[in-house]
Amino acid sequence: MKQKEILLFGATGQIGRNLIRKLSKNNYKITAVTRNIHRAGYIIKTQANPGYLELVELKNFNLNKIEQLFEDCDICINLVGILYENKNQDFKTIHTDLPDMLSRIANKFKINKFIHLSALGIDEAIDSKYATSKLEGEKRIIKNFNNHIIIRPSIVYSVDDNFTTNFMTLLNRLPVMPLYYQGKTKFSPIHVSDLTDIIFNIIERGYSNLILECVGPDILSFKEILESLLGAIDKKRLLIPLPYQIAAISAKILQLLPKPLLTEDQLKLLKYDNIKSENYKTNFDLKLDANRKFKFEINKYSYNWRSGGQFANKELIEKND
Ligand SMILES: NC(=O)c1ccc[n+]([C@@H]2O[C@H](COP(=O)([O-])OP(=O)(O)OC[C@H]3O[C@@H](n4cnc5c(N)ncnc54)[C@H](OP(=O)(O)O)[C@@H]3O)[C@@H](O)[C@H]2O)c1
Repeated sequence: MKQKEILLFGATGQIGRNLIRKLSKNNYKITAVTRNIHRAGYIIKTQANPGYLELVELKNFNLNKIEQLFEDCDICINLVGILYENKNQDFKTIHTDLPDMLSRIANKFKINKFIHLSALGIDEAIDSKYATSKLEGEKRIIKNFNNHIIIRPSIVYSVDDNFTTNFMTLLNRLPVMPLYYQGKTKFSPIHVSDLTDIIFNIIERGYSNLILECVGPDILSFKEILESLLGAIDKKRLLIPLPYQIAAISAKILQLLPKPLLTEDQLKLLKYDNIKSENYKTNFDLKLDANRKFKFEINKYSYNWRSGGQFANKELIEKND
């Protein structure tokens, strides 16, 4: 059987790294596009067996070069995304113009499927530039290409994420942790392995023209997430609700960091629940379950942040008497 050719943009990110493993193990051949082939080679070359992964370097989104890549492709998956803007990157280019361009090319070359990673909760968050740029990107794809699949995940977590791992580091180091909006915003975190299983099944089962909300089995408030992380790293910290005005000032300052801890746009986004909307199908509606539970999964890697490490737990000491 001919291997299916997948063209993957944003392959070196958290979801991309895990998706490459899942797809290549299942006989898909992947062409991964990256801005820096040396860094990408180091990060993702080991995720696939020889012959299943080819890396292509594109420093910018050059139409002719991208069109050449589409010539041999059956499915294109776009995972490129950013969390904050700076002088080198803005939401409109990354979340609207790039999906617009890719879906036009997908249509021109009549490929099988265009899968795009968007985000949950973007319909409501009309004051966030991140959300509105993602929503506009979705609209362009729907207009340009019929056989689209738009995936809207809640927070995606894993041992190699930028979310639980960063918070465990912060909770380890800081004596107090601010709670924005009283920590009441709700999330449905989904484990990256569950999400990559869903994407794989979507490819295999031949869905099309679909917006799919991807959620995990739990609904947890921001405060409950922090409490779970604290429990996992065996630390006690004060979680203090921060008035909005102070949070806004802190975001103004924190967004000046080269890799911002919080931006004003993220603060706006945090106001909105990040759970299924009831307006679209979810993975559970398609019987694509995501059963990995947050509290259980984080315990598998939280020992990296616990005093004494993995074997510090006294119960693990064997009793010989
Ligand atoms: N992870 C989550 O919790 C989550 C939740 C909801 C939605 N999503 C969406 O799912 C998609 C994948 O998420 P992820 O967490 O795997 O993403 P990620 O790790 O943040 O980044 C994905 C890739 O995008 C490329 N990229 C980043 N900035 C770029 C720029 N300025 N120009 C060109 N390429 C750039 C990078 O590839 P190279 O460096 O190799 O070029 C990067 O590896 C994104 O669209 C994200 O918005 C993620």
